[in-house]
Amino acid sequence: MTNKNSLDEKKIKKGLSTLRLGKDLEVFDTIDSTNSYAKALSEDKKLDGTVIVANEQTAGRGRTSRKFFSSKDGVYLSFILKPDHNNFNVGLLTLAVALSVKKALTDISGLDLEIKWPNDILFGDKKLCGILSEAQTDALNGKVKYIICGIGINCNNTFFPDEISDIAVSLRQACGKAIDKNELLIKLLYELDNVLYRQPYYINPCDMLLEYKKSLTLLGKQVSVIYPEYELCGIAKDIDLNGGLIVSLPDGEQKSIFSGEVKLRVKA
Ligand code: BTN
Repeated sequence: MTNKNSLDEKKIKKGLSTLRLGKDLEVFDTIDSTNSYAKALSEDKKLDGTVIVANEQTAGRGRTSRKFFSSKDGVYLSFILKPDHNNFNVGLLTLAVALSVKKALTDISGLDLEIKWPNDILFGDKKLCGILSEAQTDALNGKVKYIICGIGINCNNTFFPDEISDIAVSLRQACGKAIDKNELLIKLLYELDNVLYRQPYYINPCDMLLEYKKSLTLLGKQVSVIYPEYELCGIAKDIDLNGGLIVSLPDGEQKSIFSGEVKLRVKA
C-alpha cells in the first residue's frame, strides 16, 4: 500500500482547518464498522464533532441492513453529532451532508457528479459513495440524543466483487488517477464542518435545498419507490422542507417520501 492510499493521523491533523469537526479524531487501519464504533462511543461521553476514520471495514453497514463493501482502497468515516438545540432537522441534515460530500469529491477529482435522493453520490449511473445516518432519540422526551453519520467512499478501488461490479465505481476508475486519501479526507471534513458549524444548513435551509436540487438526478422523471411489501410509482416532483421526496402519484396525490429505495423507471 502506498502512502497516498493510507490514512495517516499525523497528516490529517496537520491539514485540518475545521472549527469543530475532527478536533477529536480516531484513525483505524481496520475496524468492524466506524458507525458501530461511533455509536458505542456516543453512549459514553464522546463529544459533538468526534470523527472516526478507517482504511478498511470488516462489517461495513449500508441502509436497509445491507453490507457495505469496505476494502482497503476506500475511505470510511463516521462523525458524532450531539445537537444542543431544536433546529436540527435530521432529514435536511442528510441532504446537507450529501451536498458537502459531493463538493469535496468534485473538488478533488474534477468529476461531474450527481446525487441520487437522498444521499448516494453517483458518477453516471454508478455509485461512488454511500451515506448512512443513524439517530438515537431519548425514549422519555423523544429528543434526538445523538446522530451518527457514516460515509463510505469508493476511492482507489480497481475492482469490485461481482455482485456490485455493475453498480459501483471508484474515484480512481472514474478520473483515471489515484487519489490521496488524506487530502480527500481533509477536504471532506472542511466541507462538512462548513455546513455543520460555520454556516449551519439549518440557518438558511432554502439556499441549501436549492443547491442540493441542482445536483439531483430523478426530478421530473418516472420513479418507483420500493418498500419490502409494495412499490409506489409516480413522478419525482420536488424536495420538501423536511428533505422528503415529493412524488406525484397516478391519481394526482402528491406524497412526500422519507424512506424506501427510489429507482428510476425504465420505460418498456
Ligand atoms: C448505503 O449506501 O447504503 C450507505 C453506506 C454507508 C457506509 C458507511 S462506511 C462508514 C460507515 N460505517 C458503516 O458501517 N457504514 C457507514
